[in-house]
Amino acid sequence: MPGTVIVGTQWGDEGKGRFTDYLAEESTLVVRYQGGHNAGHTIVVDGETFALQLVPSGVLHSHVTPIIGNGVVVDPAVLLDELDMLAGKGVDASRVRLSGNAHLIMPYHQELDRVTERFLGQAKLGTTKRGIGPAYADKAARVGIRVQDLLDPKIFRAKLELALREKNGVLAKVYNRLPLEADEICERYLGMVPRLEPLIADTVHLVHEALEAGQQVLFEGAQATFLDLDHGTYPFVTSSNPVAGGVCTGAGVGPRAIDRVVGVTKAYVTRVGSGPFPTELFEGDPVGDLLVERGGEFGTNTGRRRRAGWLDAVMLRHAVRLNTCTEIALTKLDVLAPLAELKVCVAYEADDGTRYDHVPYHQSVLHKVRPVYETLPGWKREIDGALRIGDLPAAARDYVRFVEELAGVPVSFVSVGPGREQTVVLPQAA
Ligand code: GDP
Ligand code: IMO
Ligand code: MG
Repeated sequence: MPGTVIVGTQWGDEGKGRFTDYLAEESTLVVRYQGGHNAGHTIVVDGETFALQLVPSGVLHSHVTPIIGNGVVVDPAVLLDELDMLAGKGVDASRVRLSGNAHLIMPYHQELDRVTERFLGQAKLGTTKRGIGPAYADKAARVGIRVQDLLDPKIFRAKLELALREKNGVLAKVYNRLPLEADEICERYLGMVPRLEPLIADTVHLVHEALEAGQQVLFEGAQATFLDLDHGTYPFVTSSNPVAGGVCTGAGVGPRAIDRVVGVTKAYVTRVGSGPFPTELFEGDPVGDLLVERGGEFGTNTGRRRRAGWLDAVMLRHAVRLNTCTEIALTKLDVLAPLAELKVCVAYEADDGTRYDHVPYHQSVLHKVRPVYETLPGWKREIDGALRIGDLPAAARDYVRFVEELAGVPVSFVSVGPGREQTVVLPQAA
């Protein structure tokens, strides 16, 4: 079955959007299977930048049907704004299809995300405050409101009133906030129905029709492996399953629908928000600052400065396993250009001298480990014009080979700049 997954192998912002856009050339459908507008996926085509949060990154290809799957949580106002933004740039996004089973992000989810973060104080997660966690919590608690509920105003209102009884109690009594009004929310959400209705579809059916016809279907991950609710650095994670397995529940396919899993890996690592980060180079470290500046490591979405550090092959190996990656797409290699030497973390060491070649399952251990580095020579010249692997300096090729060896799967693509054309395809790529 011709399904390909694009998944982040780190803590997000690896360049999933640009590789989804690149591989969408050969695809019929591009499907988001989890997350919401906490994602920020940037694509640069012919010098024009597109920052997407909800609309799948295949949208720039007119032959692609972009699909928002059942596993996504949707703020409909954000979706409509994004469609308008695309229309304003001349992109026809009327082809987008939205699962009727996707859950809605409601105003109380966003309010709760904000107040719970404040309440946590020092222990805050550093969420995007988009209401993602509370929306998934309601889905699991079976009090969520789904996209299809918008199509029946009576049902929508009944579910909303039920939800507000509890949410307003919590907002007022626990967090000392003003209650939210059902009338205002109904008017706002139901007012969007005329624009949303033509987009709402049975997306599972669309995906299976395409797969059965032998068409390429691309599943676009948001967030990443170490932000996964089950496999990430809990509790400093998001509330969905970005790992490749999340495609099955979030898009409605079985594992055998997937035959290719591209693990998108930044040539170094970044993280936004709180949580452990063994190879972190703290603000003020010259290499860390260089990565942030050259890499433009500020959130697409929130503008926050991303934390940065050396590539961590212990994490990468684990991500390859968790996702059964068939290959790696290595991004932002150009950012490393000025460095005289490059470090790659190949193991961790704990205070008691224990060496870990795998990610320790216990968070207290992970918080304290020290990275064990191997040092490679840098190449000290810009590579953003490289078109083929042979255009890269020998030291850059060696770095790619080293990553490949450590990951245990081939590197199929290397990107050397944000532009669609700044993608180097390696000879072994499928
Ligand atoms: P995503 O969330 O995984 O899609 O990644 P983001 O779009 O949030 O972050 C990646 C950032 O790096 C974006 O601003 C991209 O335009 C940019 N980018 C992607 N690939 C490259 C690359 O190879 N080199 C450079 N310099 N920038 C890149
Ligand atoms: P893309 O798809 C980087 C992080 C937040 C926070 C944690 C939980 O662009 O790679 P949430 O709002 O999801 O409850 O926040 O997850 N986070 C991301 N970090 N890239 C993302 O998406 C992220 N989406 C969420 O910063 O630490
Ligand atoms: Mg991003």
